[in-house]
Amino acid sequence: MDSTKIRQSFLDFFRARGHAVVPSSSLIPDDPSVLLTTAGMQQFKKYYTDPAMADRDFNSRNTCSIQKSFRTSDIDEVGDERHLTFFEMMGNFSFGGYFKEDAIRYAHEYLTRVLGLTISYVTVFEGADAIGVPKDEESKKIWRSIDPNISIREEGIDDVFWGPTGTSGPCGPTTEIYCQNGAGQDIEVWNIVFNQYFFPGSREELLSGTSGKNLQPLETPGVDTGMGLERLAMCVQKTKTIFETDLFAPLFGMLPTEMKTGKKRICLDHIRAITFLISDGLRPSNKERDYILRKLIRRVIAIQYLEVRKKVEMRGGPLSDGVNFLQRLLEKTVALYGANYTNLDLAIIKGIFREEDAKFTRILAKGITKLQCLEQIDAKAAFGLYQSGGLPFEAIKDLAPEKTKHLKREDFDLELKKHQEISRAGQERKFGGHGLLLDTGELKAADERELKIVTRLHTATHLLQASLRKVLGPNVRQQGSDITSERTRFDFTFGRKMTPDEIRAVEDYVNDAIRRDCVVEYEEMPYEEAVKTDALRFFREKYPAQVKVYSARDHKTGEILTKEFCGGPHVTHTGEIGRFRIAKEESSAAGIRRIRGVVE
Ligand code: SER
Repeated sequence: MDSTKIRQSFLDFFRARGHAVVPSSSLIPDDPSVLLTTAGMQQFKKYYTDPAMADRDFNSRNTCSIQKSFRTSDIDEVGDERHLTFFEMMGNFSFGGYFKEDAIRYAHEYLTRVLGLTISYVTVFEGADAIGVPKDEESKKIWRSIDPNISIREEGIDDVFWGPTGTSGPCGPTTEIYCQNGAGQDIEVWNIVFNQYFFPGSREELLSGTSGKNLQPLETPGVDTGMGLERLAMCVQKTKTIFETDLFAPLFGMLPTEMKTGKKRICLDHIRAITFLISDGLRPSNKERDYILRKLIRRVIAIQYLEVRKKVEMRGGPLSDGVNFLQRLLEKTVALYGANYTNLDLAIIKGIFREEDAKFTRILAKGITKLQCLEQIDAKAAFGLYQSGGLPFEAIKDLAPEKTKHLKREDFDLELKKHQEISRAGQERKFGGHGLLLDTGELKAADERELKIVTRLHTATHLLQASLRKVLGPNVRQQGSDITSERTRFDFTFGRKMTPDEIRAVEDYVNDAIRRDCVVEYEEMPYEEAVKTDALRFFREKYPAQVKVYSARDHKTGEILTKEFCGGPHVTHTGEIGRFRIAKEESSAAGIRRIRGVVE
């Protein structure tokens, strides 16, 4: 069975059993306390504590999905037979619809009947006094009733107790299913979580037991299951590694033969992850999740350089077409996945990749010269190379394996942390002594006069975003904004230059909203509540638990023209803005446009 058929059979199986099929959510999660989407349950987190909402949203208490997922925790593992950063996670979920009995029966039936697999063994929770959760006798009994001969292993909290994800959430014991791959190894294919509890803190707090917080039983217990498509395909297609399944095999053959296998695997994993991360709106930079994207891009470029470009140069040969295999891998990845994921835009992906490639290739050339001057590279030296030259840790390791023999990631991270603390202290001093009346990071004003103008520009910026989405479509997303008393500068995702007509239409929309003198007001509410409203939010921002949602409402018709998460300040009526004009529209980076707007 190829991967397309596996995906289809999974969704068909659960659809036939009353599950609503829900599309994958973005890799950029709603939950601000987690960086990227790591599990299928993330988009469903709220339904475990409020199952009635599932009736409203899905017309069912049971759902299934194939979720784009990304696990930074596995980055260092990539290169072996079965670890990945990006993967597709198939899962079925229930918010009070069914519990252990059905969840286990479904999983058994799907694996053995639909896919024809043999289960090697299963695990169940052995219980843990530390958190006051008993052994999961019930799951054991259910497994035995299905197959009296099944091998059951009892395991502890590290392996078979899920959650909470982020700063709080549902959690509970799990049962895992292991099947054999083509190399005869037992692979964990399915993790079935029984969300019986809610914990008002993080997993670390739960395990440390020192937070004073307690596990609370969930009113309605729920089910959350996750099965990595790639690992399952390895068992179904009887391959020895995930890279020999049909999900990767067509790409594997495109890599230069002289490359080492581990490096080939890293390239395939990273290129696929890059494709999806860019498509969900990330852009390489040194901030948080964008940094993850930049790291992946730089890693594959360093590999390409070391494994191929450098060798060709050393041989004195011309840089053949073969060195551009990364671009071709991007093309092939989009071709392979485009049918299932319609938001993959090859032109944008290639453009962003190329831009970062150009930047990093220059850095690489300088970095290599510096590396050659060093005898040994310890954490301090490595951090220096990173700091001044932009060489990531992995690239330093790859570039000078001998000189970095003793270099450990922990020590490097420690240097990084020290530096961050120093620079944070510096920032505070800088802004403290700056004399700005307002500095929210986004808005800056030196005095009362400037404050009035940036406030007008700020409300105009909200209207501008709403207007862009009206004129250019809902794919327009804020990428950043910067407001001074001179102008607002607004970056947003859009693939081409705007036409003069579009610019005029956007200005007209904003000015019409100003003419209607809409009431600008805000409501303060818990973040969880706010995400349920359809208010726009800036995905890159980390929001506090309590947020403000600002809206502009036409007081005659009641129509809401914009609604956004925002800290303010804003004008009270849009009439105060004056006249809005787009002074400039230009490219900011690949796939991102920049507008400068003024109020007159
Ligand atoms: N949340 C669990 C996991 O990711 C099951 O989906 O393994």
